[in-house]
Amino acid sequence: MPPTPPDTLDHETAWQVLCRARETVTRSAAPVHRDGPLHLTASGWTSDIPSSEAAREMLDNLAPLAMHPGRLTLAQLGQSLDGRIATESGHSHYINGPESLMHLHRLRALVDAVVVGAGTACEDDPLLTVRHVSGRQPVRVILDPRGRVPATLRLLREAQAPCLHMVGEQADIAPPAAAHVTRLRLPLGSEGFAPAAVLDALAARGLRRVLIEGGGITVSRFLEAGVLDRLHLLVAPLLIGSGRPGLAMSPIATLEQARRPAARTFRCGDDTLFDLDLTRS
Ligand SMILES: NC(=O)c1ccc[n+]([C@@H]2O[C@H](COP(=O)([O-])OP(=O)(O)OC[C@H]3O[C@@H](n4cnc5c(N)ncnc54)[C@H](OP(=O)(O)O)[C@@H]3O)[C@@H](O)[C@H]2O)c1
Repeated sequence: MPPTPPDTLDHETAWQVLCRARETVTRSAAPVHRDGPLHLTASGWTSDIPSSEAAREMLDNLAPLAMHPGRLTLAQLGQSLDGRIATESGHSHYINGPESLMHLHRLRALVDAVVVGAGTACEDDPLLTVRHVSGRQPVRVILDPRGRVPATLRLLREAQAPCLHMVGEQADIAPPAAAHVTRLRLPLGSEGFAPAAVLDALAARGLRRVLIEGGGITVSRFLEAGVLDRLHLLVAPLLIGSGRPGLAMSPIATLEQARRPAARTFRCGDDTLFDLDLTRS
């Protein structure tokens, strides 16, 4: 990144403002955040001083999320050009480049809770913490209807942030061993937990801004249930040719039935970020 001239809003300062804005946004329908030279609203931002290109890109991309009033459900997937999120064996580190990883950590810092399916929890043994940028740690949530994830998972052992382990009402499972883990039982339908019920259970705990981080099965269920406000697809210039699919939903007969959400694109290093507004499709 070229050095930022003095009296120019740089990328890191803009990120700190977004983090503070995210804390002050209330349930107001028209939130406003004034912070140094920056003025943020739910529909955009302005600056009293010139901004670096990197700061502008990030504010265009993330200010609408930071300033979103009320509940927000966002999903992300990092995928190859041919729509794969991992190889057949489940290897996915890393499809995307370092800039996309940083973007993912920014998304984590802007939400209250990050959700993964049992498949991702088992395959990746992720921490789901904010490490590549500064920011607040979200609550980490595992959707595990059958109670199949092993107690040795880092999410269940390492206490950097609280962990909510959502299991089915009938799951036969020992109480959590660590104080940072809360077990929550939810009713199971034929399609697993109803995504809206998962989000309501989180909102009841004050977790109103939620990132569905993967994998493909989990994001597809939330998308199909119509509960996502936004989807960030990070497409890497890579062909895998086989492997785990990203989005996989019920078949449609004609292209008139396909969803065509309002889309914006951003560069993320060599990757392209498609920011899809699912409230307008
Ligand atoms: N590139 C990326 O952005 C990215 C992100 C995350 C993960 N990954 C990769 O993706 C792979 C895993 O993805 P995946 O699609 O196979 O699995 P996944 O989405 O991680 O997990 C699917 C499982 O989670 C549980 N689950 C999800 N939604 C549920 C709901 N609404 N109700 C009840 N249970 C629910 C179910 O568990 P049960 O099977 O027990 O019923 C389901 O089979 C791994 O290889 C990982 O490395 C890639």
